[in-house]
Amino acid sequence: MLSGMRPTGPLHLGHLVGALDSWTKLQQTHDCFFVIVDWHALTTEYADTARIREYTREVALDWLAAGIEPDRSTVFVQSGVKEHAELHLLLSMIVPTPWLERVPSYKEQQEQLRDRDLNTYGFLGYPLLQAADILAYKAATVPVGEDQVPHLELCREIARRFNNLYGAVFPEPQALLTRAPRLPGTDGRKMSKSYGNAILLSDAPAELARKVESMMTDPQRTHRHIPGRPEVCPVFSHHRVFSEPAVIEWADRGCRSAGIGCRDCKGALTASLEARLKPMRERRAALADDPFALDGILSLGRDKARGVASETLAEVRAAMRIGG
Ligand code: TRP
Ligand code: SF4
Repeated sequence: MLSGMRPTGPLHLGHLVGALDSWTKLQQTHDCFFVIVDWHALTTEYADTARIREYTREVALDWLAAGIEPDRSTVFVQSGVKEHAELHLLLSMIVPTPWLERVPSYKEQQEQLRDRDLNTYGFLGYPLLQAADILAYKAATVPVGEDQVPHLELCREIARRFNNLYGAVFPEPQALLTRAPRLPGTDGRKMSKSYGNAILLSDAPAELARKVESMMTDPQRTHRHIPGRPEVCPVFSHHRVFSEPAVIEWADRGCRSAGIGCRDCKGALTASLEARLKPMRERRAALADDPFALDGILSLGRDKARGVASETLAEVRAAMRIGG
């Protein structure tokens, strides 16, 4: 099993419920590889690379804090395992460019990130590099969000094409869809770093409380005596994910009957989030205290990953009758 994330900033609650919670469960039952894809970050951030290194460490800390266990799983950084680059290059010889051009995220991202020139070779090859990440480990299962399904489909097509041309080397990986509950940001839009509406896994208690206080509520509930509609309220969306059943029930009923105020409701949410984030914050601090601890974990992960990827690449070269 393999999955990855781009190091584009510190992780937030959306990453926790959308990915990390399922990863920490999967590592109990699967041989897991978790990769921080810094080369993928370059595909959009090539003009401003100043923070990619720092974010790579942040993401690693967030993962470990969230419960990824380096003794159990292989945690590593993509750029440390050059086999990804070699496989990407070899696969680039057989992938028809229309396959890449028709991946929906290609045009979408170009539209969304109009401030930069994404008419690059590297950006077009984003999903191919992702395929190399996956195939280098012959991963059978790839837990991803819905937006990644076309990338997985492309990966399967490339595996098939390779196998047809050179012989059966790659299994076709399966996407494992993580059905994440919808988690809006503090302003009600999708939680995202770029909207500035995210609650970070690393937020200090005061910052957490401040963000919850600033959260949008049911806009019709302009006064304490007006009953509210939890189903349209971002605070309640968070209760549903992070609070105990009794608290969810209390908020739901209290809101509809105007029995509680939004301030009470938010106070309870801060407590629920704090209960979840406090142990993570502590694990993070312990790791951050000793910078060599993280280095050690990442270099061990790199060596383990390299061991597997280099075996695959030996098979790939033999199948293609090419050196390396
Ligand atoms: N494209 C993925 C995303 O944006 C990140 C990623 C890169 C990835 N390589 C991967 C995910 C391999 C799963 C497997 O979320
Ligand atoms: Fe939202 Fe809670 Fe206020 Fe209801 S009481 S509107 S659920 S914050």
